[in-house]
Amino acid sequence: MAELEVQEEEGFAEQEEFDRLLQETAPEEAEEEAAPEVEDEEEPAEEEDPDLDDDEELGEVQEHLKDSVEGSMRLKRILQQDLDDEPGKKKRRLDGPSAEITEKVNGLLTKWGCPEDEIMRYVLEQLPLQEIENIFKSNWRPDHFSTRKTASDQLARFTAELRERSMVKGMDSDVVSTFRHRHKLTAAQEKELRELCHKDLRYVLDHYTGAEGQTLDDVISEAAGEVPDESTSGAAPTAPGVKAVSRFGRLELIDPLADCAVFGDANLTFSLRLAKHRKALGHVGRVIATTFEELDTLRERYKEIDQSIKTLEEHYAEVYHGVDCTRIAVDPRFQGMEESLGAVYYNFPHSGAITGFFDGHPIVNWRHENLMRLFFRALRSFVKPGGFVKVASNGSALGVRYSYIVGGAQENEFEHIETMPFLEWHLHRYGRSYGDRRDVYKRLAADSNESYNAQAASKDMVYCFRYRPSGEPIGKQSVLFLLR
Ligand SMILES: C[S@@+](CC[C@H](N)C(=O)[O-])C[C@H]1O[C@@H](n2cnc3c(N)ncnc32)[C@H](O)[C@@H]1O
Repeated sequence: MAELEVQEEEGFAEQEEFDRLLQETAPEEAEEEAAPEVEDEEEPAEEEDPDLDDDEELGEVQEHLKDSVEGSMRLKRILQQDLDDEPGKKKRRLDGPSAEITEKVNGLLTKWGCPEDEIMRYVLEQLPLQEIENIFKSNWRPDHFSTRKTASDQLARFTAELRERSMVKGMDSDVVSTFRHRHKLTAAQEKELRELCHKDLRYVLDHYTGAEGQTLDDVISEAAGEVPDESTSGAAPTAPGVKAVSRFGRLELIDPLADCAVFGDANLTFSLRLAKHRKALGHVGRVIATTFEELDTLRERYKEIDQSIKTLEEHYAEVYHGVDCTRIAVDPRFQGMEESLGAVYYNFPHSGAITGFFDGHPIVNWRHENLMRLFFRALRSFVKPGGFVKVASNGSALGVRYSYIVGGAQENEFEHIETMPFLEWHLHRYGRSYGDRRDVYKRLAADSNESYNAQAASKDMVYCFRYRPSGEPIGKQSVLFLLR
């Protein structure tokens, strides 16, 4: 198996050099990175036990925050141990796939004529049995003669697309379409919802759970008897429902009292936009603006950063650097903020590129999926029930696939409520950045909404979620990892 050579940012930074190459590829592949190169066959890697719970660092975390950071710490420990171990050393494996999965995976690899392909094996072994069976049933097979994609790359893409067939689609999906998908409603029920006024539609969206004994018609009747509440969301009660709820989302009319946080900002222009927006609306909730990079790095990349921070502070925003959104439970700056956030934003998440690999290649892609899973898991301790999370991303991205965002949210009880086109979002006009060294020499223009290289701006979306914890334990966060 190819050794994972972590050179964060370099591959992403070198995208310029691959532009010509990318332009020759299919449009939906345009956000990918360097050409895939798979070399250096090695002894297949085996996984460490992800359930070991002897992490000293975790012992120091407050009890009620452990769950929101345990997955991140487990992942770090596994990867660290892998780096410390001699490559190829026989590793203990307690969490391997079941015998049934191994048998099916062997069967598929043999059928495709590549029983020794360890990366394809890795892709398949990550899947639940049902998905492996679905692949069996399909007639799919890799093209071993492709000059652009390795067989494992093709397989990873196929399995993701197969899963996405049963999910809500990645492009715009309004509140009713998303609700219909979640509750498996009929076309007639959808039509009924679309005819409701703002007050009634909001009531139904908030109160219908699909629980046994509850019918949609009953909830619609209850809604009619409700009086509009006094809060912001009670405005325009008789307006057409879908239009009014959609406008609320697009105009970012969040709770004026709610604290909000931005993760993964880079040049802070999004946070600035949000702080100004909230000030103009007279909001008193805090704006917490964070970057993953430290201030020194930001100063090298964005000459105006000190001024941006000053302006943010003049707007009473708090600015923190070096914030890892998957580990806020162990970040002292977030101490005491449990269940306080009413809105959270992370635009265009990306866990950094690795030289020589397309973003969707299975050797590197698991990092993007983990980022989303661990981000939402971390938020469980900090977002208040009913709070909103918005993640902007390109609907056809092959790195952070939309299904990683929606899937990571759903498995952590963040209900997907809508996908809106990014360009319809009141906050979309800010200076997008690559978040890596390219920002030193290539700035994306805010006034013309410049999008990332070769990413179709019309496919940029904002995935919107609402936190609805059931109060029941949801189990440990599963993480993906690839060992040497
Ligand atoms: C493509 S850039 C987007 C930057 C900015 N949000 C924007 O829209 O212009 C992705 C950003 O995610 C940040 N990032 C990567 N891993 C992160 C993590 N674990 N926590 C927070 N941010 C992270 C990177 O540092 C980078 O700034």
